[in-house]
Amino acid sequence: MPDFELIDGKRISKELKDELKEKVAKYKEEGINITLAVIQVGNDKASSIYVNNKKKACEYIGINSVSYELEENVSEEELLEIIKKLNNDDNINGILVQLPLPKHISEDKVIETIDPKKDVDGFHPMSVGALSIGKKGFISCTPYGIIELLKRMNIEIDGKECVIVGRSNIVGKPMEMLMLRENATVTIAHSHTKNLKEVAKRADILIVAIGKPKFITSEYIKEGAVVIDVGIHRNENNKMCGDVDFLDVAPHTSAITPVPGGVGPMTIAMLMKNCVNAVEIQKD
Ligand code: GUN
Repeated sequence: MPDFELIDGKRISKELKDELKEKVAKYKEEGINITLAVIQVGNDKASSIYVNNKKKACEYIGINSVSYELEENVSEEELLEIIKKLNNDDNINGILVQLPLPKHISEDKVIETIDPKKDVDGFHPMSVGALSIGKKGFISCTPYGIIELLKRMNIEIDGKECVIVGRSNIVGKPMEMLMLRENATVTIAHSHTKNLKEVAKRADILIVAIGKPKFITSEYIKEGAVVIDVGIHRNENNKMCGDVDFLDVAPHTSAITPVPGGVGPMTIAMLMKNCVNAVEIQKD
């Protein structure tokens, strides 16, 4: 295979977590203890794995976590009451409600009830608005992690053509605003985009979050592009893959994230960074 750099999210997330661990220890010396409240509704298997990994990361870094495991049939009102209590509790720095929620609960209402100063997921409209106009606030963890990966790999963003495939509120849209903040020229492509191959081929940096296994092949890639794969899927043999056909695409890139071990580990590391950032955000 020709030369390309593997963007090792596992190594970089460990590096970041170790830095955060030191910062948390310093805060502790000053008498500042950080606490994250994690709320899970029901016991969806994938959600339980994510929530457990978040709690483990807290433990590693020295952040306290308190968890609320609510029954699948908990009422929206009860959930909102718990959030309001946590909003008013000075001992709580971050509030995270694991998504998706059961159908009888409005995710929008839940997200909007979280105090924007404790919104460590960065999903509140105030957080999204702050990001879009360059004000201080929490940033959605996956796109925030992608910026961190690019910076720590010394990949230049300024002036580059960036194409993002996918326009979700959690990844595509905040990713656009972050790349814009770094002075890239940004295009968002999505399911209605005509000639996706030609559009994707413009990219110096191609970020893919479409949720279709191995959708992006070498036909979508400009020679030497940087490719970031946000997708995560399991095939029938339980083997993981992303939205990018790695073996086909990698030889045409200058750098690429693998799945697993690329973007995934960064998401939790950035949640931890947001919990640490919460101390500063709550000072104002
Ligand atoms: N479900 C899938 N990803 C996420 C995430 O980043 N945050 C929350 N709260 N729920 C999720």
